[in-house]
Amino acid sequence: MNFTPPDWQSEWASPDVKNWANGKFHVDMAQSMERACFDFMMIEDTVMVADAYGGTMEGSLKNAVFAPKQDPIPLAVMVAANTTKMGVVATMSTSFYPPYLLARACSTIDSIAEGRFGWNIVSSAEDRAAQNFGLEGLPEHDERYNVAEEYFDVVNKLWDSWEPDAVVMDRDTNTFADYRKVRTIDFEGKYFKSRGPLNTVPSPQHRPAFFQAGASPRGRAFAAGAADAIIAVGTGTAGMKEYRDDIRARAEQAGRNPDDIKLLFVVSPTIA
Ligand SMILES: Cc1cc2nc3c(=O)[nH]c(=O)nc-3n(C[C@H](O)[C@H](O)[C@H](O)COP(=O)(O)O)c2cc1C
Repeated sequence: MNFTPPDWQSEWASPDVKNWANGKFHVDMAQSMERACFDFMMIEDTVMVADAYGGTMEGSLKNAVFAPKQDPIPLAVMVAANTTKMGVVATMSTSFYPPYLLARACSTIDSIAEGRFGWNIVSSAEDRAAQNFGLEGLPEHDERYNVAEEYFDVVNKLWDSWEPDAVVMDRDTNTFADYRKVRTIDFEGKYFKSRGPLNTVPSPQHRPAFFQAGASPRGRAFAAGAADAIIAVGTGTAGMKEYRDDIRARAEQAGRNPDDIKLLFVVSPTIA
């Protein structure tokens, strides 16, 4: 789902639909999903108003498709605070979030969610989004994944910059954290540089659950090396089997146990 207007023009719309951006509709949806035993909710995201159709923003804004789109992070916090079991996954782009900010936000939210937070790792695909961040356009497709791979490395090092038992909160010695268990990362890569350590305490999962939806060969390679769960578009039984076999083979190549990756196919049921 995404943090966009609900079905505001239908006769079934809530009398309060004009206030949809306060997040309460989406929290109500999350609570209903939790009652129905859903495992998690994933909030999709992009950071631009599209004008590809007809070279104008009319198509997007008149019909409320692709835009408006509210930031998924505050909504994820609201959902987490108003549910108790269901996971909440938010999308953040490796092309736009500085790694330190992302690592810190994920750690903070995972603590608020008591270990139920996930990050949908995307590298974005819209030049219009890049132009909101001072760039002419995005790097080309596979290069975006090269950046994402190094990004993934930095944020993991930041989450690991605190040993799990660094926080002691020992009244006898008046010690909050054992400073010897918190280290700088001194990361210097091709694209990123970060000193560390993170200035948040380790969260219950230590890092968010990782979601990815790579479909291209490069995207699949990244997903197979990084993701706890992969979401793919269902393309018929043969296509789904091919995708699954390929992801499992790539996971093995990356030195992972393929069974550690949950593979989920998107279906769009039509109820007649
Ligand atoms: C279920 C699903 C959700 C996705 N959510 C987002 C999203 O929120 N933001 C985004 O920029 N891309 C999103 N994507 C795009 C993927 O991250 C990915 O770029 C796409 O599947 C194409 O694969 P490729 O990057 O390997 O070419 C999503 C894709 C799928 C299938």
